[in-house]
Amino acid sequence: MADLNDPNVQWWRNAVVYQIYVRSFADSNGDGIGDLPGITARLPHLADLGVDALWITPFYTSPQHDHGYDVADYRDVDPLFGSLSDADALIARAHELDLRVVVDLVPNHTSDEHEWFKAALAAGPGSPERARYMFRDSPDGPPNNWSSVFGGPAWTQVEDGQWYLHLFDSTQPDLDWRNPEVPAMFEDVLRFWLDRGVDGFRVDVAHGLFKEESLRDQVVTDGDAPASSAHEMVERTITDEPMWDQPEVHGVYREWHRILDEAGPDRMAVAEAWTQTIESMTAFIRPDELDQTFNFAWLLADWSAESFAEVITDTLAAVEGVGAAPTWVLSNHDVVRHVTRYGGGEQGLARARAATLTMLALPGSSYLYQGEELGLEQVDVAPEDRQDPSYLRTGEVGRDGCRVPIPWGGAEAPYAFGPGAAQPWIPQPADWASLTVEAQSAAADSTLAFYKDALRIRKDFAWTAGDVVEMVDAGPDVLAFKRGPLTVVLNCGTTPAELPEGEVLLASGPVDGKLLPDTAAWLR
Ligand code: NOJ
Repeated sequence: MADLNDPNVQWWRNAVVYQIYVRSFADSNGDGIGDLPGITARLPHLADLGVDALWITPFYTSPQHDHGYDVADYRDVDPLFGSLSDADALIARAHELDLRVVVDLVPNHTSDEHEWFKAALAAGPGSPERARYMFRDSPDGPPNNWSSVFGGPAWTQVEDGQWYLHLFDSTQPDLDWRNPEVPAMFEDVLRFWLDRGVDGFRVDVAHGLFKEESLRDQVVTDGDAPASSAHEMVERTITDEPMWDQPEVHGVYREWHRILDEAGPDRMAVAEAWTQTIESMTAFIRPDELDQTFNFAWLLADWSAESFAEVITDTLAAVEGVGAAPTWVLSNHDVVRHVTRYGGGEQGLARARAATLTMLALPGSSYLYQGEELGLEQVDVAPEDRQDPSYLRTGEVGRDGCRVPIPWGGAEAPYAFGPGAAQPWIPQPADWASLTVEAQSAAADSTLAFYKDALRIRKDFAWTAGDVVEMVDAGPDVLAFKRGPLTVVLNCGTTPAELPEGEVLLASGPVDGKLLPDTAAWLR
C-alpha cells in the first residue's frame, strides 16, 4: 500500500499542477505558434514559480481543427510542435527540475485524418473499419436529435449515405468503445507514453466514450432545440444525457488503473468529467479507477462566501467517501479567465487573487492555467482572428480569448513569445507590457510575486496540515476555515471584516488590521 503522505509516491495528492496550452506558451522557432522546445526553454520559470507538475495539452500529430484535441496519430508529435525527441528532452529537463509531466489523452474521438477514420471511409458501410466509429444508416435524416458540444447537429452524413457521430466538431468522429479494438489501441498508447517517462495523463472527455446503446433521442425539456448539456462547457441545464456518463466507462478506467500501477505507484490520471453531480464525479476516482477528477464546482461557484463554503463541504465529503484527493481549479483553456469572470479590472483581479489564495489553502491539488500567475484577463479577440471550432460552428464568441499567447518580456507584441518580431497565432493586446513575466518579476507587488509567495509558503503546509477543514462562522459575507495550523479568511462582502487572531502569513491584497472586501488571508 502506497504511503499517502509521501510526496514522492502519490505526489498528485497535494500538488500544484500548471496547465500549459502548447500553442500559446512559448514559441522557439518564430512561426508564431508555441512548441515543445519553447516549453523546455521556459521550464525554469515554472520551477521558479514553485509548481510541482505540468499538464501539457495535446501536441500529437493533428490537423489542428480543435488545436490538437483532434488527434491523427497518438504516438507522434505534430511537426508544428517539434518531434518525439523534443518530447523526450522536455520530459527529461522537467524531471531534472523536479517537475512532473502529465500529458493529455483524447480517447473519445480521433481526428478525421486518423488512419482509422480514413480506412473507415474507404471501406464503406458494414465493414470492420466502420465499426470502430459510430456509423449508422438513417435514410430520413440524422439518427437522433443530439447536438454537438460545439453547436449544430452531432451527426454528419458521408457520401454513401451513412451518418457518423461527433459530439464535438465534424472533424472529431466519436469512437465506438464497445469495439474491443478501441480499448486495445488506447492501452498501447498509455504504455507508449509511460515508457517515455510521463508521470500521468489528463483524460479528455472522460465521461464520454460510451453512449447509451440504443442511441435514443435526448429528452429536452427546457428549450425548443435539443442541446448538449456541455455546450459552452459551463452551462448545465439539461438533465437527460444518453451521450454521457454511461456505467460501462468505469470498466475502461479500471483497466487503465492496472496499466498505470504496472508502470509504478507514482503514475496517475486525472479525469475531465463534466458530470451532473459531485457523487457521479467521484465514481471516476474510486480506488481502482482514476486518481483525480477536475472539480469544476469551484470554478462555477458564485462570488459568495456561502457558495464557496458549500462547494468545499460537498467536495470534501464526496471525495472522502472514495479515499481520493480533492482538486480545485479556477481557469483553463475552455472557460473565461477568472479575473474576467469576477468582473475584470481592479476588482476582478482582487477577487481572482483572493479566490486563488483560498483555493491554494485547501487540501488536495490545485490546477493553475498558464497566464493566471500574471493576472491575465480574457481578451476580446477580433472576429477575424478567432479560431475556436465552436465559434466557426455557431458564431458565438468561443474560447480564443483565454488562449492568447503568454507575454514573456519586452514592451510590445509579441512580448518575447517567440524570437524576433514574429506575431503569434492570436494577436496579443497592445497594453500587456506591464503584465509580462519580465515586468512582473521586477515588481514586488505583482501578481506573479504573489503567486510565488503563495506557492512557497504552501510548500510548508501542503503535506502536513491534514485533510480536515473546519468551517468557522464569520458572518454571512466571510468564508472562514481552519486547516491544521492554518486559518483562512475570504471577504466576499462589501465592507471590511475582522481579521482573526494570528500572524498573517500572506494576504491577496493590502490588510490594515481589517480584511478588506475582495481579499483573502492566510494566518497562523
Ligand atoms: C475538452 C477539451 O478541454 C476541449 O478543449 C476540447 O475542445 C474538447 N474536450 C474536445 O476534445
